[in-house]
Order: sequence, then C-alpha cells, then structure tokens
Amino acid sequence: MATAPLRIGFLGFGVVGTGTYRMLVDNRESISRKVGAPLDVAKIGIRDPQKPREAPDALFTTDLEGIVDDPDIDMIIEVMGGVEPAGSLIERALRNGKHVVTANKELIAKRGGPLIRLAAANSLDLHFEAAVGGGIPLIQPLKHQLAGNDVLKLMGIVNGTTNYILTRMTEQRMSLEDALGEAQRLGYAEADPTADVDGHDAQCKLAILSGIAFGRETPVDCVYREGIRGLTADDIHFAGILGYRIKLLGIAEAIGPAVLARVHPTLLPKKHPLANVHDVYNAVQIRGDFVGDVIFSGRGAGSDPTGSAIVGDLIDVARNIRLGGAGNVIAPETGGQFLTIDSLVSRYYLRMRVDDKPRVLGQIASRLGEFDVSLTDMEMRVLDAAAGTGEIVFLTHECRESDFRQATEALDDTCGVREIATWLRVETREA
Ligand code: HSE
Repeated sequence: MATAPLRIGFLGFGVVGTGTYRMLVDNRESISRKVGAPLDVAKIGIRDPQKPREAPDALFTTDLEGIVDDPDIDMIIEVMGGVEPAGSLIERALRNGKHVVTANKELIAKRGGPLIRLAAANSLDLHFEAAVGGGIPLIQPLKHQLAGNDVLKLMGIVNGTTNYILTRMTEQRMSLEDALGEAQRLGYAEADPTADVDGHDAQCKLAILSGIAFGRETPVDCVYREGIRGLTADDIHFAGILGYRIKLLGIAEAIGPAVLARVHPTLLPKKHPLANVHDVYNAVQIRGDFVGDVIFSGRGAGSDPTGSAIVGDLIDVARNIRLGGAGNVIAPETGGQFLTIDSLVSRYYLRMRVDDKPRVLGQIASRLGEFDVSLTDMEMRVLDAAAGTGEIVFLTHECRESDFRQATEALDDTCGVREIATWLRVETREA
C-alpha cells in the first residue's frame, strides 16, 4: 500500500492499552485495508518504566507531553484513566491539532463537554466509545444510526462487577460480602470496590450516555446514585418469589423538557431481557420514538472488548484523516433541565420487620394509604414466634417517590413496624 502510515501515540498502557495494541498488531492487514493506510504505533507514554509490557521497548517513553506535542503523531489513544493528568494532556493534544480516542469514563463524564467543544472548534474528533459498556457499541449508534429518533428512555446494566455480584447472590444465594470477595479473587472487583459497589462507575457512564442520547450535557451530580451495598440475600429471595430479579440499573428518561437520570438497584420482571443479563455482561436498552426498543449487550469491560471499541473509534478517525474530512463530534448543549429523584413516579418494593399480632397488616396499609401509597402484592413470614416478630414484603402501585418516602417515614411502632429493612424501585414493563 503506497499511502503513508498514520501515526498513533498512546497515553497509558495498562490492561486496556495492551488489548488495543494487540488488536492493532494482530489485525494490522485488515485494519489497513479498511482505513486505506497502515496504522503505526509511534510512541507509548507510561508513568512506570519498570513494569513488563507487551510491546517493543523502543516505543516506550515517560515523556507524555512529548507525545501530545510531537508533530509526527496524528492520533492519540488515552488509556491512563483519572481526570488528571489525562484531561490536560488531551486538551493539549487537541490544541496541537491531534484527534483523540479515549476510554476514560471519569474524565468524559466530568469534563467531556468542554473537551468535546474544543475538538469541534478545531474540526477534530474526540471519540469515547470505550468509556461505556466496554466492547458494546452504544455511543456511535446513538450518534449515527439512531440519531433520527428522539430518545425517550435508556436503561441498562453498565457495571460488570456489580452484575457479577448480584448474579452470584441470586444463583448461589451468597451474601453480598461473599460474592464481593469472590469477584475480588477473580480480578473483577478492585481491592477498594467503592467505585463499583456504590454506583459511582455506573453514574459516570449514565451521565455520558444521557448527554449523547438527549443532547444535553449531563453533570454527574445530576444523576441520582445509589449502590448495592444495602442489599441482602433476603431481598433477592423475596424479589424472586414475587417474580423479579434485582439489577443495578442506570436509567435516564425524558420527562417533558427535562431529563431524570438515576442509578440504583431495581426489581425487574424475570422475563425482561435485562433481567437475563448475567455475570460481568453489560446491556443497554434504548427506546427511540421511531425505532422502538433496541438492546445492545456484550462484554462491558476487559482488555480485548475495550480494545475493540477503541480500535473501532480509531478507524473512524483514520478514515476521516485520509478523506480530509472534519471531525464529526456532536457537542451536547449546556443548560439542560434535570429532575431530582423526588419527582420519580414508580412502583416500590418494601421489606419491614413487624410485630406479629392482629391488626398490624391493616394499620400498615392504612398508614401507607394516607400518603396515596397503595399495595399490589404481599409476602410475609414469621421471624421469631416466641418474640412475636414477623417480616412483611409489599409491592406498591405507582406513586410519587416523595410520597413514598414520607409514607415509609411514617411507619413506626404505632402501626406495629419495628424496622424498615429495605425499599427499592420496581420497573414493571417486561420489555
Ligand atoms: N469496573 C467496571 C465494571 C469496569 O465493573 O464494569 C469497566 O468500566
């Protein structure tokens, strides 16, 4: 092929960088044909030169600024993670006229808007398919094939670690602590699992998806967040009896001119496609006004799937460079309106410990009714006959979250309630 190679600089070379490099080497011929020019890795920037790496020593440098300033480099792959120094390096690369592909969900969620606008102003690409859902195409389909739709709602499992933990809790009846320990031994969960277990990772991913889907920059702190730490094997068990599985979902929907975005454990009917996504797999359902529901699923993390998403973006950028086109980023608008979780209208699951004696059930139903909370399903069991305690689980009709919260706060010993153990939101549509 006579065409001059396009030259790539890596910033970072951990698990994702290694998978990306391996794909560029293994599939070099077919990628060259698709682009119309070979893609050469020119430099790889790392912070710790002592670690063993799967690439020739001559490519490595600790001078990361030298890579983004190098006039011979056309495209940057950023796989360092974290907001800084990755953000400053990407900004500098864009100011130097380089296209950028990144897998950095935290950076794109927290500083993506200004960086995308900078790329657009310089007719450059800034792609980040790998930031959400690993190898699953989500961002490019939203920007291209689904772009004619007004997105009404998107809902998905975007964190593999918590999906693995919930799968083990459901299938092996493990406790959250044991399932988390197993996930850590298998390398799915970090030693400090906060980002996954408390929903921060999913919150960043949903902020990114919401920004693309609704065309409005979605600040991370406008996404309501609740993790899985409070869940017990009892909740999984009762949800199962009632016909549901519990998943950590990211959900964003258009409500009038506003968006409500939220991450929390959710009861899903067992027949719902997302209820049948297990282990570390991710899946996202997108509802467009014309297309209806489409579902994307696959491996949401790991070296090879995430590398695949990066190389896909890279090929897009490389074709653009070859054909002399401008970058095709779409900058989301700022100043969108975001609703708080209080305005949610949903069904709810409520588990409580109660006095096991006459009239308690009626008193609870009556107290909930004072707040317009009406019941649809119920399970109960005796916990300790001698102590006179029992456990009751309800599902409610749809009600406003603010009413539901007030109702649960009003359930106290005057109506026989000893403790509210858990409450969760319920999605009822089966598909
Ligand atoms: N910790 C993330 C997960 C990795 O479990 O999904 C991919 O972003």
